[in-house]
Amino acid sequence: MPIRILDSHLIDQIAAGEVIERPASIVKELVENSLDAGAQSIEVEIEAGGVRLTRVRDDGSGIPEAELALALSRHATSKISSADDLAAITTLGFRGEALPSIASVSRFEIVSRHVDAERGASVSVDAGSVGAPIPAAHPPGTTIEVRDLFYNLPARRKFLRTEVTEQGHIVRLLERLALSRSDVAFRLRSGSRTLLDAPALKSKDGNGATADRLARIVGREFAAQSLELDHSAGPVRISGWIGTPSAARATSDLQFWFVNGRAVRDRLLMNAVRLGFRDVLYSGRQPSYVLYLDIDPALVDVNAHPQKLEVRFRDSRQMHDFVFRAVERRLAATKPAAGALPPAWSGIGEHATPLSSLLDLRVAEAGAPPGVWAMSEALSARQAADYAAPPDADNQSPLGEALAQIHGIYILAQNESGLVLVDMHAAHERVLYEKMKAQQGTVATQLLLAPIAVTLKVDELDVLMAQRAEWQAAGFELERLAPETLVVRAVPALLPREDVAALVRDVVSGVAEDGASHHLDGATDRLLGTIACRSAIHAHRRLTLAEMNALLRQMEQTPRADQCNHGRPTWTQVTLAELDRMFLRGR
Ligand SMILES: Nc1ncnc2c1ncn2[C@@H]1O[C@H](COP(=O)(O)OP(=O)(O)OP(=O)(O)O)[C@@H](O)[C@H]1O
Ligand SMILES: [Mg+2]
Repeated sequence: MPIRILDSHLIDQIAAGEVIERPASIVKELVENSLDAGAQSIEVEIEAGGVRLTRVRDDGSGIPEAELALALSRHATSKISSADDLAAITTLGFRGEALPSIASVSRFEIVSRHVDAERGASVSVDAGSVGAPIPAAHPPGTTIEVRDLFYNLPARRKFLRTEVTEQGHIVRLLERLALSRSDVAFRLRSGSRTLLDAPALKSKDGNGATADRLARIVGREFAAQSLELDHSAGPVRISGWIGTPSAARATSDLQFWFVNGRAVRDRLLMNAVRLGFRDVLYSGRQPSYVLYLDIDPALVDVNAHPQKLEVRFRDSRQMHDFVFRAVERRLAATKPAAGALPPAWSGIGEHATPLSSLLDLRVAEAGAPPGVWAMSEALSARQAADYAAPPDADNQSPLGEALAQIHGIYILAQNESGLVLVDMHAAHERVLYEKMKAQQGTVATQLLLAPIAVTLKVDELDVLMAQRAEWQAAGFELERLAPETLVVRAVPALLPREDVAALVRDVVSGVAEDGASHHLDGATDRLLGTIACRSAIHAHRRLTLAEMNALLRQMEQTPRADQCNHGRPTWTQVTLAELDRMFLRGR
């Protein structure tokens, strides 16, 4: 083929490939345009997860009729005009690419009325060709309607997920945008259902209005468990909220960064916060935070990522340090006393089921009446007494006899060939997972005496209900009582029952977040894997010797017990010969 310049419609479609990944990308571009136009109120309407329809209506400045067609051309923007402007960007958009890109992969219509105009006008785009403006009734402001996303790019369409998943992405995105501007009203509807309603808040002193918005969007729970932060140095200011270490989560879904009002997922900033938390977070837990960075626009380049999700600081080292120190200093007062147990270890809650009942100790199976827990206490007292004594010589168990727990993470045991080390969380996760899998369909369920109501976001509950069959196969009996209310009537008998609500929430956010990361086939297995991971004992849980031994015995009876669901090993052996070599014995 000879070299040639591509036609402009194809160029737009290629550009769309970088920016428009899914319906949520469209919402992002359109809402950012509305914010740039000074809108006070933004309404988003979607159908079929935004694929069939995404409509954004604002009360911003509008576009003059004469410029309407121009707004749909590539490289046409009202936001910058020179390299100097590019070096200090104060608007969310600046490339003049979003509208033509969206219009090239959908059926597109824009209706707008400029604040100074007597009437509005509309323009539609058909297969890349922009029609002439025709008069249309519209209050000052703009409405953009995007239908049948990727109708002309079947290959892209195939990458779209289910409606509820796409809807979830849109809700998460609008939540971010709503957190960035508490002075603007945001509303999201799908059909007759309201998925998000955030009225505009007048700014009070300091962060007052944003604090109200925060409670509404990320929940009062976080608001109550977080520390306010506000620190300035020269041209930079960091403000917002960081969750106390006990508000840490299993997933990173509560991490928000805004740079000059723009929502970003910037690695440098996220690392800096993580580092600030390093001494107070326990393994695998994720910090939660909502942080705002305000900085002289000349010191940050926002033209560094196709979707503008990352930024580049003129002095990145210094910025990293500034953020890290601000976070660390704010947390300094909250460090737990040495040796003290932190308030909430696992997503299961503070007073989780005695482990022995989870592990279903063999001694209990032998028919001991006093209750598993009492039995295990008695056992551990006895074993603690002969702690130093070597295990029975005739003990043939492959994983041997537990001796101690190391740093709350590993179990140290002794078997015939030497030393055994077990990662207790990974091992327990595998045991639970295999048990649930083996019982699938015939899972022993436990009817709850009092059904438990769990409040979730509408879209999260949509996702959950779409997977109801899998939950059922895993032993849950669930019913949606109201758009935001789930009732749990039964749970798998294997699970702890103390904080079912927290477990369900943890699993929902886990499933949404890591989707396929559990390396397991099929939706049911994935769900079981997530449940197992979320309900397995977490690091730093103190175990009695009896509990440790119970876990070892269960591992011996569990298929594939050598690896956890994530493919990490669950235990390892150090033989006597290896130990001898380490100490140069017998040479
Ligand atoms: N809702 C709106 N209200 C008023 N003007 C708008 C609106 N949406 C778009 N415009 C006008 O249309 C122009 C083109 O929009 P488009 O999103 O394509 O580019 P941009 O926002 O300038 O840059 P970017 O591609 O980075 O988003 C904008 O510069 C703005 O002047
Ligand atoms: Mg734009």
